[in-house]
Amino acid sequence: MNMMKIIKAKDYAELSRKAANIIAAQVILNPESVLGLATGSSPLGLYAELIKGYENGDLDFSKVRTVNLDEYRGLTKDNDQSYAYFMRENLFKHINIDMANTNVPDGTEPDAAKECARYDAVIESMGGVDIQLLGIGHTGHIGFNEPADEFKKGTNCVDLDPKTIEANARFFPSADDVPKQAYTMGIQSIMKAKKILLVANGEGKAEILYKACCGPITPRVPASVLQLHPDVVVVADEAALKVIEEKCPCCIG
Ligand code: GLP
Repeated sequence: MNMMKIIKAKDYAELSRKAANIIAAQVILNPESVLGLATGSSPLGLYAELIKGYENGDLDFSKVRTVNLDEYRGLTKDNDQSYAYFMRENLFKHINIDMANTNVPDGTEPDAAKECARYDAVIESMGGVDIQLLGIGHTGHIGFNEPADEFKKGTNCVDLDPKTIEANARFFPSADDVPKQAYTMGIQSIMKAKKILLVANGEGKAEILYKACCGPITPRVPASVLQLHPDVVVVADEAALKVIEEKCPCCIG
């Protein structure tokens, strides 16, 4: 039996509203929530909806704390391709969050062991993530946990998969400019979140979303581990659900 709740949205706008409502409910119910946040193009619409919620007075982020999944190794916070920059531009600067309550791995720390240990301590000090937002990479990665022989527990420094470098090259002048490594929260840290919200859109994600939600649980498809979490909600548009709908329709709804 699939424990994941898979919610279908007709398009990206509906997906973004539905997923934002889930985060908004969390913030309304507990204004001191710890939010695990993600980057990538998938959550952009959701962030725009949260900004609207702040602007219309429904959402107050003044006591919210956040911890982001990952950061490219080597990029400074001011580099416009860094995830720290992404979060500032696409969410933080538009809402009343205290920047001191936001956390992203430090891509400029050259000592990987040191940065991974520091970030694990940050996550630990939060006392538990209430809701972890995730996108899914074409390789099945969550955060930047790429396919591997084992699930990595804590924050780790990863070599990005060539497929990921190719997918993310669209944001850089060329594929050669994409950093080859990243710091990412580990699978165990992600799995410790009380609730997980995964968003996926577009046909390009249909096959990997099917593998993640309905395929064997394996570190070769890192997102498949989410099948073991007791409270996962997937909000996806029709295009991203195409393969699940064909092969495993009873999983939806
Ligand atoms: C990025 C991020 C992931 C994200 C994924 C998908 O590289 N590290 O956290 O979920 O790839 O990105 P997108 O939403 O743009 O497809």
